Amino acid sequence: MKITLISGSHRPEAQTFKVATYLQNQLEKRDDVDATSMIELGGTPIPYWDESFWQKGSDLRKDMEPWLEELRTADAFVVCTPEWGGMVPGALKNFMLYWSENETGHKPGLIVTDSAGINGAYPVAELRGHGYKNAKICYIPEHLIVRNVSNMMNDDSRDPDHNKHDADIKDRADYALNMLMVYARAFKDIREAEGIFDQRYPFGM
Ligand SMILES: Cc1cc2nc3c(=O)[nH]c(=O)nc-3n(C[C@H](O)[C@H](O)[C@H](O)COP(=O)(O)O)c2cc1C
Repeated sequence: MKITLISGSHRPEAQTFKVATYLQNQLEKRDDVDATSMIELGGTPIPYWDESFWQKGSDLRKDMEPWLEELRTADAFVVCTPEWGGMVPGALKNFMLYWSENETGHKPGLIVTDSAGINGAYPVAELRGHGYKNAKICYIPEHLIVRNVSNMMNDDSRDPDHNKHDADIKDRADYALNMLMVYARAFKDIREAEGIFDQRYPFGM
């Protein structure tokens, strides 16, 4: 099974990328993970969506193809995002405009948010409430909020006497990643079921 992680902050040296990298390393330790890949939006490598994306053979379509192929070949996603102004950063929302059911449809996604302080709930609500309609990504019930992120997931150690919150969130992360893999296995069957990819209804409701 291949898992693709997305680091949704477009700040270079983002804390979100640190968290995503920690989770990628945890995934790679698992026997049921054959491959992982990371899409890192630091430095905003992905161009703004425009209508030329809908034209066959357009430059934008060609430029986006490697990114979209990365999504198409994934069985599940870990979507990591900071909370910025109580929102998901624009670079991630822009990337999401390119997602259709061909890339992300009927694949499970684990939402992971981070905050320098004690928030991080708003981007969870935003991703759960919006953005899945055309993409048809299926966010699993479990999510992770990494609060006080600069003190968390800085290395592999897990010592509750040294940093109890760090040890706790790492345990929780293992649980959430395991849940994601259980869903990833089950969703393979869902994608193979008849009538799931119906050309008449690409846009959700
Ligand atoms: C533009 C901006 C807006 C922010 N707004 C919030 C916010 O609304 N709530 C919050 O908890 N933290 C906020 N923060 C702090 C970030 O959540 C925190 O620094 C996060 O770890 C940054 O992630 P990054 O390093 O991956 O960009 C903000 C940070 C930035 C740069």
